[in-house]
Amino acid sequence: METKTILVDEHVNNDESYAQAVDYIRGGEVVAFPTETVYGLGADAMNATAVDKIFAAKGRPTDNPLIVHVDSKETALEYVEDVPEKALQCMDAFWPGALTLILQAKPDTFASNVTAGLPTVGIRVPNHPVALNLLKRLKRPVAAPSANTSGKPSPTMAGHVYFDMDTKIPLILDGGPTQVGIESTVLDMTSAPPVILRPGQVTKEQLEEVIGTVRLSSETKGNTPKSPGMKYAHYAPAAPLYLIEHNSKLIEKAIDHIHGKKKKIAVLSREDFETADYCFPLAVDKLYDSLRKCDQTDADLILACVLPENEDAALMNRLEKAADHKWFS
Ligand code: TXA
Ligand code: MG
Repeated sequence: METKTILVDEHVNNDESYAQAVDYIRGGEVVAFPTETVYGLGADAMNATAVDKIFAAKGRPTDNPLIVHVDSKETALEYVEDVPEKALQCMDAFWPGALTLILQAKPDTFASNVTAGLPTVGIRVPNHPVALNLLKRLKRPVAAPSANTSGKPSPTMAGHVYFDMDTKIPLILDGGPTQVGIESTVLDMTSAPPVILRPGQVTKEQLEEVIGTVRLSSETKGNTPKSPGMKYAHYAPAAPLYLIEHNSKLIEKAIDHIHGKKKKIAVLSREDFETADYCFPLAVDKLYDSLRKCDQTDADLILACVLPENEDAALMNRLEKAADHKWFS
């Protein structure tokens, strides 16, 4: 299959581009599109055959459910039931935006592979003109996980999507780099108090200002994870990634040590380390691009320089997963 990328710029007339995307999705195909967080791989959430194509293109385990995207709170409420008051408050406060709410799905609405057979669904209204335009024209809910190969860093640019999805999907809508750079906060509204299953741009503090106490998921700890996606490897670059405390002396020592073993090193940091073979920026909106850039090098090892106490919770969460919790020592 040929994979076409089309630019959807706010300043040009894009009617034809959207019409193509709508035709593909209505016809049961998969189209990649930008959201404010990361690019999504979208299909008609009511068409199981179309949704299967998402799992196939990503190589995603079928027990990991997908997030459903809709154009408004009103549309969302057509597909979910037993919606708690606090969920409505979150919708009003954060939608459109980087917050996914786990709610009871109305039975027999979504294709069962969207929710991996669960009675709940993750749903959000993305805050991106291209995504909203597409959803408004489609008049259908769109199941869309991040548009990367399963296990790899999520795509924040159309080029990232093309790298992973070339020949696998017919169309990529290119809306430029995404603003946020990491995936939405996932908040489970079916527990009391609500639980953050995945941290993101919308923080625990911001949520608590609106709905009171919110818990942070304590990850798996041997039990079946509440968010099925959490048990899988994530965001991993090809070379092993280690976390290291951001302390210049410590990092220079680590670089020396690795060079002593005749190995090449890439560093992710807010500061340039000239002795490293490669150095890429570390920031929420640059993380995935930097991880992907490491894959373009011959580095044998990657060090991510962090100050755990000061880091953004969502950034730290992604880095810990990408490193599989390994610290350099
Ligand atoms: O920012 C985002 O959320 C992006 C853009 C494209 O919207 N999408 C995204 O989707 O990150 P994905 O599929 O890569 O991540 C979905 C996460 C997974 O961790 C999954 O396990 C969880 O949401 N999830 C989905 N439905 C769920 C449900 N019913 N119960 C618990 N967790 C769920
Ligand atoms: Mg993902």
